Amino acid sequence: SITHVILTGGVGSRLWPLSRKSQPKQYLEIFEGRSLFEITVDRNSHLANKVMVVGNVDNHHLSGKVMDKTNTSYINIVEATPRNTAAAIAFAAFASDANDILIVTPSDHIIDLMDNYNQAINEAVSKAEEGFIVTFGVVPTKPETGYGYIEAKGDKVISFREKPNETTAKDFISKGNFLWNSGMFCFKAGVLLEELKQFQPDVYEKSKAVWESSKEGFLDFDLSLEIPSISIDYAVMERSKKIKVVPASFSWSDLGSFESVYDYLVLKGHPVDQNGNMVIGCEKHTTFLGLKNTIFVYTDSANLILQKENSQDVKDIYSELERQN
Ligand code: GDD
Ligand code: MG
Repeated sequence: SITHVILTGGVGSRLWPLSRKSQPKQYLEIFEGRSLFEITVDRNSHLANKVMVVGNVDNHHLSGKVMDKTNTSYINIVEATPRNTAAAIAFAAFASDANDILIVTPSDHIIDLMDNYNQAINEAVSKAEEGFIVTFGVVPTKPETGYGYIEAKGDKVISFREKPNETTAKDFISKGNFLWNSGMFCFKAGVLLEELKQFQPDVYEKSKAVWESSKEGFLDFDLSLEIPSISIDYAVMERSKKIKVVPASFSWSDLGSFESVYDYLVLKGHPVDQNGNMVIGCEKHTTFLGLKNTIFVYTDSANLILQKENSQDVKDIYSELERQN
C-alpha cells in the first residue's frame, strides 16, 4: 500500500512574523481561503491509499481541522517536541509495514503543473518498489544555501550535499549537473529504516523506543528529548548508496524564506516598486525612499523590515524573541 506522509513539525521561523508558533505558515488560509497544508492533502489524495500526519502538540488541532474539512481519515502521529526530520520520518516508518511505500512531503510547498507532478510521483513509486530511496531534483536557479544539492547523472545520485556554503553552492551551479533537493522523498518504510539503522543508529534506536512507548500516536516528551536532532538529509541522504533522483518537471517553490516568497509573489504579479521594494500583508499605500530590495512585512502584532538578502537570518530574530518570552 502507498502512504502519503505529511511532515508538519516546523514553525516556519524564517517567515516570522507572518508565521509563528500559534499559527505556522502551512495553516495560514492565504491561498484563496485554503492553507498550504490543505492543498498538500488534496494534491496527494489520489496518489496514495493512506494518509499519515506527523505533527506536534502545538499544531495537531490545526491539522485535525483540515482533515475534518476535507473528510480525510488519517493516521495521526503527535510529537511531544520537534526532534527534526530523521526522527519524524522514522516514526512514520515504524508506524508502517516494511513493504509499504511512503511518499513523504512537507506541508508548506507550492507546486504547479499537476500532470508532471503525478507522473514524477508514479515514477518515484516504481523506483521505491525496487528498493531505492527516491529524491526529486529541481533545476537550480541560484546558489541558494538553504537547500540540499543532488549531484546527478541520469537517475543516479553521485553525491548529496545538504546546505553548502555560498562558495560551494556557486561551484555546484557552475558544474551544471547539480539539482536542488525538493525535500520530498519516496521509499519503502523498511528500506529507510535499514539505512537509518546503519548510518544513524542512535536516532534509529531512540526513535524506536519512543514509537514503541507511544499512546494512540502521542509520543512521550522525556524520552523524545533523548533523540538526537538531525535532519534526514544529513542522517541518511548524504550517506546512503540507495538514493535515486527523479526530475521535478513540475513547478516547485518552498516558501521557506522571504526571498522565496518575494520571488513567488513577483511571478503572481504582486506589486513591487522600481527599486525592488515590496510590502507584504498590508494594502495601505507605502513609499520606500532611498531603499532597494527591501521587504516590509506587516501584521497585526508585529512588523518586520528586511533587506531581501538577509532572508535567511530571520530565524535568528525568531529564536531571540522565543528566548526572551
Ligand atoms: N513532524 C516534524 N517534526 N516535522 C518537521 C520537523 C520535526 O521535528 N522538523 C522539520 N519538519 C518539517 C518542516 O515543517 C518541513 O515541512 C519539513 O519537515 C522540512 O523541514 P525544514 O526545516 O523546512 O527543512 P529545510 O527547508 O531546512 O531543508 C529541507 O528542505 C529543502 C527544500 O525545501 C531539506 O530536505 C533540503 O535538502 C531541501 O532542499
Ligand atoms: Mg523548508
